[in-house]
Amino acid sequence: MKRLVILSIPLLFLAAAQAQDLPDGPGKDTFLKVCGSCHDAGVVVTMHNGKDDWQTTVDDMKGRGADASDDDFKTIVKYLAKYQGPEVNVNKAAAKDLQTQLEISDTEAQAIVQYRTANGDFKAYADLQKVTGLDTKKLDPLKGRIVFQ
Ligand code: HEC
Repeated sequence: MKRLVILSIPLLFLAAAQAQDLPDGPGKDTFLKVCGSCHDAGVVVTMHNGKDDWQTTVDDMKGRGADASDDDFKTIVKYLAKYQGPEVNVNKAAAKDLQTQLEISDTEAQAIVQYRTANGDFKAYADLQKVTGLDTKKLDPLKGRIVFQ
């Protein structure tokens, strides 16, 4: 019995840390309230899906008994599609995809491509701060979607 208690404590901390790791943004409160009632809302932390896939997941949860207004479900899908959207490879994605996926301007997307062409691949998120004209503050909430290889 004692051993069971010791083993389950780190698991609890892990679950708690995960839900907190979710980016702040419009819809997060609704998402936490509706999607955290049966299981930890943090189950989505490592998931990166497009809007249609998130819609399917949310519909699936509705079928399992998730209860909210249509507007709330729409807000949740929007939140997930933005903050837990598909991964974006900043070393490979075309400027147009960077622009639409990361919701940055055409000029900023071009600046990312120019920087990697001149200096080689980005290795970490901090490298993006070296790109002249790119406001990484705007990118911070989408950090979890950015990959380098
Ligand atoms: C009424 C209870 C309930 C609510 C509310 C609920 N879920 Fe679930 N969810 C479940 C159950 C039960 C499972 C486990 C399904 C399984 O293991 O097959 C699950 C599993 C999941 C999984 C893991 C699926 C997988 O394939 O591993 C995700 C992601 C998920 N839920 C997201 C959500 C989201 C997003 C919401 C909010 C819209 C939500 N859940 C609300 C009951 C709920």
